[in-house]
Amino acid sequence: MRAPDHAWLRPWRFITISGDRREALGLVLEQCLMLRQPDAEEAARDKARSAPLRAPLLVVVVARLAEHPKVPEIEQRLSAGCAAQGILLAAEACGYAGVWRTGDAAFDRNVMSALGLQEREEIIGFVYLGSRDGRVKPIPKLATAEFVSSW
Ligand SMILES: Cc1cc2nc3c(=O)[nH]c(=O)nc-3n(C[C@H](O)[C@H](O)[C@H](O)COP(=O)(O)O)c2cc1C
Repeated sequence: MRAPDHAWLRPWRFITISGDRREALGLVLEQCLMLRQPDAEEAARDKARSAPLRAPLLVVVVARLAEHPKVPEIEQRLSAGCAAQGILLAAEACGYAGVWRTGDAAFDRNVMSALGLQEREEIIGFVYLGSRDGRVKPIPKLATAEFVSSW
């Protein structure tokens, strides 16, 4: 509920999907895939339908874009993105694991409508949350100097 937020617009909201509602979302994702790509292969349809079953809880992070003389849309999207990162960090801190995913479905207005989004709302990400299944994967260590310079 807290993220850097120019002018306190609170340009985010969250939709939780769990239990058998994940199957309902899977059907929506499959139907929307068929509208985008009527010749989609069976494997792609199966992937879309089963995508929400990857984790017990999905949080759809939604950006709510407002007109504001000092806050362009990019800043509102970034705030909503920070809120998504906040969810991931909080989940990790509580001992859970999370993954942020998008893909074509996240940018599909039919998917957004099915989830009840209004015209000025967008999907920032599908955040998948649950207990970690398996070991923590090794992440390559990055050299700070490759990303930071002083001016
Ligand atoms: C906006 C956004 C969208 C993403 N979409 C996907 C996606 O659709 N599929 C995917 O495999 N990873 C996606 N990722 C990357 C994963 O969230 C994750 O960062 C990546 O799998 C690396 O894992 P790690 O962060 O644990 O190292 C996305 C990340 C962001 C920030």
